[in-house]
Amino acid sequence: MIPSPGFCAGTNMKTYLSGIQPSGRLHLGNYFGAIRQHIALQEQPGEHYYFIADYHAMTTVREPERLRELVRDVAATYLALGLDPQKAVLWRQSDVPEVCELSWMLSTVTGMGLLERAHSYKDKLANGFKPSVGLFAYPVLMAADILAYDATHVPVGKDQVQHLEMTQDMAGYFNGAYGEVFVRPEALLADNEAMAKVPGLDGQKMSKSYGNDVWIFEEGKALKKAVGRIPTDSRPPEEPKEPRELLLFDFLGLFLGPDELADWEARVRRGGPDAPGYGHLKARLIAAIDECFGPARERRKQLLADPTEIDRVLALGAEKAGPRARATRDRALLACGLR
Ligand code: ADP
Ligand code: TRP
Repeated sequence: MIPSPGFCAGTNMKTYLSGIQPSGRLHLGNYFGAIRQHIALQEQPGEHYYFIADYHAMTTVREPERLRELVRDVAATYLALGLDPQKAVLWRQSDVPEVCELSWMLSTVTGMGLLERAHSYKDKLANGFKPSVGLFAYPVLMAADILAYDATHVPVGKDQVQHLEMTQDMAGYFNGAYGEVFVRPEALLADNEAMAKVPGLDGQKMSKSYGNDVWIFEEGKALKKAVGRIPTDSRPPEEPKEPRELLLFDFLGLFLGPDELADWEARVRRGGPDAPGYGHLKARLIAAIDECFGPARERRKQLLADPTEIDRVLALGAEKAGPRARATRDRALLACGLR
């Protein structure tokens, strides 16, 4: 008999899981669309699994030393922003290689057509990446990442919803062929629409690959320069304007409380002598970013100055995550006749 999934239907036990690629410095879109939820969710009842998707990053990062550094940087970012290793498991994807076995098993029930429809693959090609098999099969490994841990809820930004639908399809194909091996997960989006899809400095989705991102820990002159790049126009402050049409307000909306935001919006809409100019609004945005991330910037620097703590947390995370993935792998092997 096939042992049933670790997750027990009917108990309402939630397993939250998400992954983030170490393919560049993490930006405001990653924070508001994903990391912020991950950290807030650790206070909810249930299990919490977060991993650094280094196998995935191999599809785009080819420098070994940089990849090693980026893995530590992502871990330091999560820890500095408040991820608590007592409440959530944090590990490096490649420390639990069983996901690759599961990925192979899933690929045998996945149609080419499903993968050909992936927006992320088409976007990567449009951005000049070479179409490797790894890039094409990326959603299969992502499905394995999720299904390996019997995740029920996957907190991600809007751009990952299609990958979650593909994961549900793959779980369905496999279970249809071999019995109830995998738990079907669902995507969990930031409840605030503006956070689920943060725009970049050019108004497109913020992304590491589009060169329009602002690093979470940017400070001083570099932060000023980044905020300076948010496009504005030559209308004078006195001229009434619709704040929702200004990209600058999308950014302010991420950081300011509702009352303060409404006040700035009203002043811009009214125009006249008390209306703030773009420079004034940008200075407020910089101050708000400093308030939000200032303390975490310092914690990140301390963690990276002596990475022993980061390495310890990741090793402990792999020890906790490994047995769960191995149990799922064994269940899947048995179900399809490989044991
Ligand atoms: P990137 O597009 O910069 O390569 P990733 O694909 O590594 O970012 O995304 C990591 C996580 O951050 C995912 O959950 C993704 O949905 C979320 N995310 C990325 N960009 C944004 C954005 N602009 N707005 C909201 N969430 C985002
Ligand atoms: N594809 C995700 C991204 O680019 C990263 C990722 C890999 C992931 N495996 C995952 C996210 C599993 C959630 C669950 O952002």
